[in-house]
This record gives sequence, C-alpha cells and structure tokens, in this order.
Amino acid sequence: MSLNFSDMQLDYWREASRRWNIKTGATGSGKTFLDFYLLPKRIRSCTGQGLIMLIGNTRGTLNRNILDPLRGIYGEDLVGEIRSDNTAELFGKKCYCMGADKVNQVARIQGATIEYCYGDEITTWSQEVFEMLKSRLRTPRSCFDGTCNPADPEHWLKKFIDSDADIFLQEYTIFDNPFLPKGFVDELQKEYAGTVYYDRYILGKWARAEGLVFRFYADHEDDFLFDDEEIFETDENGELVTDDNGKLKLKVRFDKLVMGVDFGGNGSKTTMVLAGYQNGYHDLKILEEEGLPLTDDVDADDICKKWLGFLRSCQEKYAALDWIFPDSASTTLINSLRSTAKNAGERSNNIAGCRKNKVEDRPMSFSRLFNSGRLKVNRRCENVRKSFRSLVWDPKDPTRPEDKNLGNINDWYDATCYCFLDFIEYIDLDR
Ligand SMILES: Nc1ncnc2c1ncn2[C@@H]1O[C@H](COP(=O)(O)OP(=O)(O)O)[C@@H](O)[C@H]1O
Ligand SMILES: [Mg+2]
Repeated sequence: MSLNFSDMQLDYWREASRRWNIKTGATGSGKTFLDFYLLPKRIRSCTGQGLIMLIGNTRGTLNRNILDPLRGIYGEDLVGEIRSDNTAELFGKKCYCMGADKVNQVARIQGATIEYCYGDEITTWSQEVFEMLKSRLRTPRSCFDGTCNPADPEHWLKKFIDSDADIFLQEYTIFDNPFLPKGFVDELQKEYAGTVYYDRYILGKWARAEGLVFRFYADHEDDFLFDDEEIFETDENGELVTDDNGKLKLKVRFDKLVMGVDFGGNGSKTTMVLAGYQNGYHDLKILEEEGLPLTDDVDADDICKKWLGFLRSCQEKYAALDWIFPDSASTTLINSLRSTAKNAGERSNNIAGCRKNKVEDRPMSFSRLFNSGRLKVNRRCENVRKSFRSLVWDPKDPTRPEDKNLGNINDWYDATCYCFLDFIEYIDLDR
C-alpha cells in the first residue's frame, strides 16, 4: 500500500511540534486522516512522565472517529478496546480514553500530569475539560494534537487559538483535500449553500450564525415547495379529481406518516404538522398543518378536540398514521391525547413523546435535506413555510434559533421538527 498525503498534512507532519498543535476547518478536509499515522509515533515516544489521554466529544464518537479506524489499520493487537476503567492499550501503552461530555469522569484524573493528549472535535467539549487539560499538560515535553470544525467566533477555543499560547495552527478548507471525489465536494457545497455551515464546513471559517437560519429557503422558496397535484390524481386538464364522496385520490405511497404536535403555553400556540416519508427514509414531505388560535382560554379539551379532527382528516386523506409525536415535555397533555384517541376508537399506542436531539443540530439537518432536494413543503402549509422563511439565529446564543414567540414562528418550526427527530438516524444525512 502506498500512502500519499496532502500538502497541508505533510506540513503538519513536519512542523507540528509545539505544545499545542491544532487543525481547524472544513469537514472532510483531511484533518483526522493524518492523525492515524501520527498517533502511533506520538504514543510510542511517550516516556511515562505523565498520562496519555485521548478525548472526544463522547466515548462513542471517539471510538467511531479515531479508535475504530486505527484498529482497521493496525489491528486489534495494537489497538485495544476501551475497558470499563476508561483505559485502552494502544501501541503497547495504557491510554485514557474519554468523552468530554462527562466532566465528572475527567475530574477523576484531575490531579494527574498529562504527557500527551489527543483531542477530537474540540469545539464540542465542555470548556471545563479544556481548562483542566491546560493545567495538566505540564511536563517539559507535554503536547497536544487536536482537530475540530470551527464554530462561533466567540467560542472559547477560538479565543485560546488567538492567545499567545505555544500553538501550531492549521486552518483547512474543503479544497485542501485532494483525495475527495469532485462530485462529493460539489454535493456538499450545494447542501450547505446559503447557510452559516457553508462558511464553517466548506470554507473552514469561524463564522457567526446571525440573521435568517434558512436564508437559502427565504431566497428561493419555490424550489422547496410542492403542489397537491404531485401527490393526488388529476384529470386531463391537470385539475385535482375527487371520488363520489368528494375525496381526493392519493397517487403516491407514503412509507410512513408521522404527526408532530407542539403544545402551546404562555403566548405560544398549539401546532400540528403531518409529514410523509417516501422511498425508505429518503424523501420527506410536509403534507398538512393545523393549529389552535392564540387565545388565553384554550384548554386541554379544545386541544384534544382540534387534534382529533386533524387526525381524522389526515387519515381520511392519506392513510392510518404510523406515529404521533407530541412534545415530550407535556406528559399530561400526551395522556389527554391518548385518552381522546381511545374514547374515539382510534389507535393510541402510536402516540409517544418525541425524542429531542440537540436543538443546535436541527437547522443543519433541515438545510441539508432541503438543499439535496429530499425535503419539500406543501404550498398550502402557509405557517410552516413562514417559519422556515423567517426563523432567525438567537442574537444572545447564536448556537440556536431564537425561541421567542414572534408571530409563533417557533411553534410551527417545533412541530415540524417533531415529525423527524425520532428517525434522524434512519434519515441519514450522509447518503
Ligand atoms: N492522505 C489521504 N489519502 C487518502 N485519503 C485521504 C487522505 N486524507 C484524507 N483522506 C480521505 O478524505 C476523507 C476526509 O478526511 P478526514 O481526515 O476524515 O477529514 P476531516 O477530519 O477534516 O473531517 C476521508 O474519507 C479520508 O479517508
Ligand atoms: Mg475529522
């Protein structure tokens, strides 16, 4: 096997000999690849003056991003599994392998001196872990190699990078990896176009998320819509046709029909959205929306009544729903929906509090799905459309969309999210 490295990788190999050696930049730009060859050298040269540590976002991602590929290259004799005491035998040495999400685990080695530390996805760590590391990397030859994607320009790591610490820094753009197929780069550029992710994950910049979350959507909304004529039968003039009961005739098949429900509270609205999955989990359509007017005297009864009406009209128009995912925070109201369903002779065991992944991850999923043509919104769903057009990044916490009740944009966005969160692994953004 012959190995080739990119210019940036070769530079790192030759010059990364400071206390802090950090690669930041685009995803897929070749930051981690080199480390599979550098890590054995670094670990073997440790002299036992301090601990050897590998830190990832979680133990799971550390395994997936680093240890599994290492094992693929060097075999399981040289790259052991992480044991229950958080150590693994790597290249003949005992190494601590940890997730930076568990501050308490890291605290256990707080008194220790660290001779070498490898860091994966540094921007996702809690700052506490990084601060701990700074004070522990204290032998004369202690050093750190780490990689990450850029985040907000105010991020603590960016501040550290800009400080006068002893740092060898490399900043990658996607174009710095000559080994990626051109089609892949084109596709990625398309998926991130018109979002803050383009600046961060393609250009590798520490870009601030501000203004519209889905700017590409607001600029070209028509590209992301579909009409009823695409899913219901039409006559020779292209007009929708109905059967004797006035019912539209569905002409496509949905593998899964899923409803998201967000319950209103103080100043927020109860919103319901129906989504359909086609072609496995590949193509997603937002089919219908329904909500309660914003008044102070809406009670659980009103919500249940409205919901039952919406459920029935959806089932009539499409088919029996597979799942109903209400906001998992409102257990009492979820129970009310279940008893409403039971009393009305509808299924109730498919109603389950939605799974909530990180709020920060949702906009990227939507952006990639829209931009790869996998997600479309029915032109009739005015409220969902408006939420995609007008959602803005929170000026106070730019890691997430603003959660204010400005025209109840968030309520529609949330109910839409709930249609997809439980299946996000199956939806698989990387295919
Ligand atoms: N020198 C190289 N030779 C062959 N393939 C490479 C090389 N560098 C990177 N790659 C490939 O490019 C892709 C992205 O590289 P990776 O290091 O994982 O990027 P990053 O860590 O920046 O996200 C991977 O599939 C990797 O195998
Ligand atoms: Mg990487």
